[in-house]
Amino acid sequence: MRMIKVKTYEEMSLLAGNIIGAQILLKPDCVLGLATGSSPIGTYKVLVENCEKGILNFSKVKTVNLDEYCGLPGDNVNSYRYFMNDNLFDHVNIDKVNTHVPGGVADDMDAEAKAYEALIDSMGGIDLQLLGIGHNGHIGFNEPTTHFPKEVHTVQLTESTINANSRLFERREDVPTQAITMGIGTIMKAERVLLIAGADKTEIVMKAMYGEITPEVPASILQLHKDVTVILVEE
Ligand code: F6R
Repeated sequence: MRMIKVKTYEEMSLLAGNIIGAQILLKPDCVLGLATGSSPIGTYKVLVENCEKGILNFSKVKTVNLDEYCGLPGDNVNSYRYFMNDNLFDHVNIDKVNTHVPGGVADDMDAEAKAYEALIDSMGGIDLQLLGIGHNGHIGFNEPTTHFPKEVHTVQLTESTINANSRLFERREDVPTQAITMGIGTIMKAERVLLIAGADKTEIVMKAMYGEITPEVPASILQLHKDVTVILVEE
């Protein structure tokens, strides 16, 4: 594991954007695993700028997102599909057909989960997975629990995650209580992992990267991954 400590959110974003950019330059038809939330917004800005400058070409890039809220269609402003279009896909020359976010409104969520896992496998797996981390150590929507969930699945969100995410909704009761997410096994299958975390995450990042490996801190499993880079804004 490589731990890179930086001083500001902007530095974190520049580094993360450059690492993802390098992945695209090295393998123009790579599969990127992407995340939503506050952490990657700056990273996506860097990617958009580098695409506008002609440094990056997204025409062959494929993407798979980590997760989506259950019950929110892609045109809902709070859905992760909307977030991705708004922050990245609408501003780079990616073919939207090659962008994938789990379906939050499928009739059969278990079938949707199975299909999403199979889709990732059929794409040849993820070359680089970008992750944020929750204050409770969650990655994707894999919340602290008694085991490491293997594959894409639906989850009940914890109170702490609902509270944290309610900042983006008009009313707390509008926050969905369930989500569909890549499993820990899905994330661990990625060739490389890039985790980005702001200064408010210092304590949980340290616990996850240097503490006990336990499903009570889902991100702690990353200690066993062969190629993880963590970029942390120092407190
Ligand atoms: C988002 C995701 C979540 C976030 C985490 C941190 O797709 O999977 O695990 O990465 O909740 O969120 P922020 O970056 O908003 O602090």
